[in-house]
Amino acid sequence: MEYRYSLFFSNLYNNKVLQSGLWLVWICGFFLIGISFYSTQMLPNFVKEQIKIKKSDSSVSFDDVSYPKITIFTAPRPFAGLIGERQALAVRSWLGLSKNINVVLFSQHPTVFSFADTFGSRVSIEPNIDFTFLGTPFFHSMVARSLALSSDVSVLIDPETILLSNFVSTLKYVHKLDDDWLLVALSRNISDFPFRLDSHGKSWLANDGKHVGLQKCGDRMLIAWNNGELPLHKGVLPPFLYGKGFHNHWIFSEALNSDFRLVIDASSTISSFYLNDLEVEDYVSTSSTTSEFEKRSWELIGNSLLGWLYGSFSFHEANYSNLFKIFECGGSYLFVNTEHNIAYPLGYKKPLNLRNKGISLSSTDREIGDCIDLMKSIEGIERCSMKDQLRFSTSISLPLSLESLLSILADQNKTIVLGVAGYSYKDMLMSWACRLRKLQVFNFLVCALDDEIYEFSILQGMPVIKCAYPPTNISFDDCHFGTECFKKVTKVKSRTVLQILKLGYNVLLSDVDVYWFNNPLSYLNSFGPAVLVAQSDEYNITGPINVPRRLNSGFYYAHSDSITIMALEKVVKHAAISNLSEQPSFYDTLCGEGGSQRLGDYRCLEPETNLTVHFLNRDFFPNGAYKGLWDEKNIKKACMDKGCLIIHNNWISGRKKKLERQVLSGLWEYDIDTRMCMQSWHKNNVTSYF
Ligand SMILES: *[C@@H]1O[C@H](CO)[C@@H](O)[C@H](O)[C@H]1NC(C)=O
Ligand SMILES: *[C@@H]1O[C@H](CO)[C@@H](O)[C@H](O)[C@H]1NC(C)=O
Ligand SMILES: *[C@@H]1O[C@H](CO)[C@@H](O)[C@H](O)[C@H]1NC(C)=O
Ligand SMILES: *[C@@H]1O[C@H](CO)[C@@H](O)[C@H](O)[C@H]1NC(C)=O
Ligand SMILES: *[C@@H]1O[C@H](CO)[C@@H](O)[C@H](O)[C@H]1NC(C)=O
Ligand SMILES: *[C@@H]1O[C@H](CO)[C@@H](O)[C@H](O)[C@H]1NC(C)=O
Ligand SMILES: *[C@@H]1O[C@H](CO)[C@@H](O)[C@H](O)[C@H]1NC(C)=O
Ligand SMILES: *[C@@H]1O[C@H](CO)[C@@H](O)[C@H](O)[C@H]1NC(C)=O
Repeated sequence: MEYRYSLFFSNLYNNKVLQSGLWLVWICGFFLIGISFYSTQMLPNFVKEQIKIKKSDSSVSFDDVSYPKITIFTAPRPFAGLIGERQALAVRSWLGLSKNINVVLFSQHPTVFSFADTFGSRVSIEPNIDFTFLGTPFFHSMVARSLALSSDVSVLIDPETILLSNFVSTLKYVHKLDDDWLLVALSRNISDFPFRLDSHGKSWLANDGKHVGLQKCGDRMLIAWNNGELPLHKGVLPPFLYGKGFHNHWIFSEALNSDFRLVIDASSTISSFYLNDLEVEDYVSTSSTTSEFEKRSWELIGNSLLGWLYGSFSFHEANYSNLFKIFECGGSYLFVNTEHNIAYPLGYKKPLNLRNKGISLSSTDREIGDCIDLMKSIEGIERCSMKDQLRFSTSISLPLSLESLLSILADQNKTIVLGVAGYSYKDMLMSWACRLRKLQVFNFLVCALDDEIYEFSILQGMPVIKCAYPPTNISFDDCHFGTECFKKVTKVKSRTVLQILKLGYNVLLSDVDVYWFNNPLSYLNSFGPAVLVAQSDEYNITGPINVPRRLNSGFYYAHSDSITIMALEKVVKHAAISNLSEQPSFYDTLCGEGGSQRLGDYRCLEPETNLTVHFLNRDFFPNGAYKGLWDEKNIKKACMDKGCLIIHNNWISGRKKKLERQVLSGLWEYDIDTRMCMQSWHKNNVTSYF
C-alpha cells in the first residue's frame, strides 16, 4: 500500500520550526549532567519531601530500567481522504518509536479494520464501546475500556497527533516513579510540517535529512497513566462525546483536585503535534442527504447541555498547586512545581527552592534555576483554561427534524423501531437501547414523553424526538398500568406511530420494557402490507389468543400503507374520546367490541379498511404472564429454548418491581453507575442499583 505523505508534507522547508527545535536542544545541552547532593533551602510545609524513584537507586541511568509496555488508545475517524492519510502517518509515527508500543483503535468503521490489518498484531480494534447514533465514540467508555486493558502505561491521544522519540524517553523516566501518576502533554499546533517518515517508519527526514523537534502550544493533549492502584480521579466521568472538547481538561482538573495521583505536565518534554489547516470532519460518513452541519450541531448541543447539566459538580477549576511539570535540563529530567517554585532534580535528597536566588546557590543549582526559568516561558497547560470554553445554552431546541432523523436512521426497507419513554424509565430505556445496539439494530428512534428524558437521551447519544402531543404531568413512580397517567401516556404512542407512518416509514413500536433476544424485524416485515402484527396479552396457555382486549399495544408492527394508516387513524380517534388507555381502543376498533371481528383464533379483520390484525405466536413473542417465564431461575435459557425473539416485562405492577425483576433476571444491558452499556470487558455490580 502506498501512502503519499510526501505530497502533503514536503511543503516548503519551515526554517522557523526547525530553528526553535534546535534552540531548545542547545539550551538543554548547556547544562552539566553532574548532580549535586546538597540543598540548604527552607521549604514550605506542603511540599513533597521527595519524588521517589522505584528501586531506591536513583542514580541508575534511565536507559537500563525495565521498559514499560505502552498501549496507545485513540478513536480515529474513517480512513479516507486527507484525514485518513494524516491518521495513518500518526499511527506509523507511534509504532516507529518502539516495539513496546501497541495501538488500540476504537471504531466500528470498515476502513479502520482494513487499515489495522496492514499492521498485524500491533494494531488492534475495539468496536465494543459506546458510540452515538452518528458514530462518535463516548469518551467515558473509551477510558473505561483503556483502564480495563491495564497496560503498564496507557495513553489516550488524538488520532492525528504525531509523536517524536522524546515521548518514549519521558514515559520511560516517569515510569520509574514510585507513585501512581497521570501525565498530560499539550500538542503543538503547526500549520506546516516539512518532514516525512522514512520508509521504515523509524525516523523523520527533512529535505536535507535532518531530525526534528518542535514547540508551540495548542489545545489538544495526550493523557497517559501507569497501571496503578489508585483511580485517576474521584467521582464518575460524565458521558462526554469524544473530540468535542472538555473531556481531557475534565480528567486533568479532577485528577489535580482529587490528588490521588501525581499529576504531571510533560508538555515541554514530549513533542507532539498536529496540522491545523483542515476543517474538522465528523465521524459520520456522508451518505445521507442531511447536511454535516445539522449533524454536528446535534452533538454540539449534546456537549453544551452536558456542561450545563453536570456543571454544578464537574467543572471545578484545577488546583494548580498540585501540578508538577517535568523539564529536561542538562540531559536530566526534573520535576518542578511552578506554583511554589520548587524543583526536584533527580538524585537530590531534598527539593530545591527556586525562590531563593541568593548567593548561597551552587553553580549547578543556579544553572538548573536558569534552565527552569527558560522552560517555564514555554506555554504549559495552565494557560489553556477551560473556563472560557464553556458557554452553556439553557434552551434546547431540536437540531434535526423528524424527517431528517428518519432518513438517517431507517433501514433499507424504510423501517423504524420506535421506543417511548419518560424520565422515570430512563435506565430501562438505556438498557433497551444498549441491547438493540448489541444486536446491530441501529434504526431505532426514541420518542420522549418529557423534557428530562429528551435531554437525557441527547446526552446518551440517542436519536430522540419529542413525542407528538405529550401529556403534561407524568408521575415518576405512578405511571404504571391502569393509572390515569398511564392512560394519557399510551395515547401518545399511537399518535407518534401514525405521524411516522404518514411520512412513509414502517414502524415497529416496542415498549422499552420489551427485552430483545434477537432481531425480529425481518420476520415482522414478512407479513407485508395491510397487516398489523401485534403481541397477544393472553395468559391462558390454551385457547384463542385474539380474545377481547388481548391486543398488546406495547409491541406491534405497522406497515406504512393507506389501509394501515386509515385503520390507525380510527384507533387514534377512538382513543381520544375514551377514558381508558389506548390498548382497548386498538382492540375495540380493529377486532370489534367483544371480538365481533375476530377471524379464527389469532386474527381479526377490520371490515371498513380491510386491515388484518395478526396476533403473534406467544412462544416467540411471550408476554409477561405467559407460562410463568419471568419466574424461571434462568429466564434467558428458558426463553431461548422456546425460540423467543423477545419477552415483554409486563404483567407486573410498579416501576421499581419491574426494574428489579429485569435487572436481577440478567436481561439487562446498562451500567447505571458508570452510565454506559455493559460490555464483556466491563465488571459490573448490579446489586448496587437497589
Ligand atoms: C493554530 O495555529 C494557528 C496559527 O498558527 C491559529 O490561527 C489557530 O487558531 C490555531 N488553532 C488552534 C486550535 O489553536
Ligand atoms: C489545593 O491543594 C492543596 C494541597 O492538596 C491544598 O492545601 C489547597 O487548599 C488546595 N487549594 C484549593 C483552592 O482547593
Ligand atoms: C399533577 O399530578 C399531581 C398528582 O398526580 C396532581 O396533584 C397535580 O394537580 C397535577 N398537576 C397538573 C397541572 O395537572
Ligand atoms: C427487507 O425486505 C426484504 C424483502 O422484502 C426482506 O427479505 C428482508 O428480510 C427485510 N429486512 C428487514 C430487516 O426487515
Ligand atoms: C383457559 O382456556 C380454556 C379453554 O378455552 C378454558 O377451559 C379455561 O377455563 C381457561 N382457563 C382460565 C384460567 O381462564
Ligand atoms: C368513563 O368511565 C366511566 C366509568 O369508569 C363510564 O361510566 C363512562 O361511560 C366512561 N366514559 C366514556 C366516554 O367511555
Ligand atoms: C375491502 O374488501 C372488500 C372485499 O374484498 C371490498 O369490497 C372493499 O372495497 C374493501 N374495502 C376497502 C376500503 O378497500
Ligand atoms: C456490589 O455493591 C454492593 C452495594 O454497593 C456491595 O455491598 C458489594 O460488595 C458489591 N459487590 C462487588 C462484587 O463489588
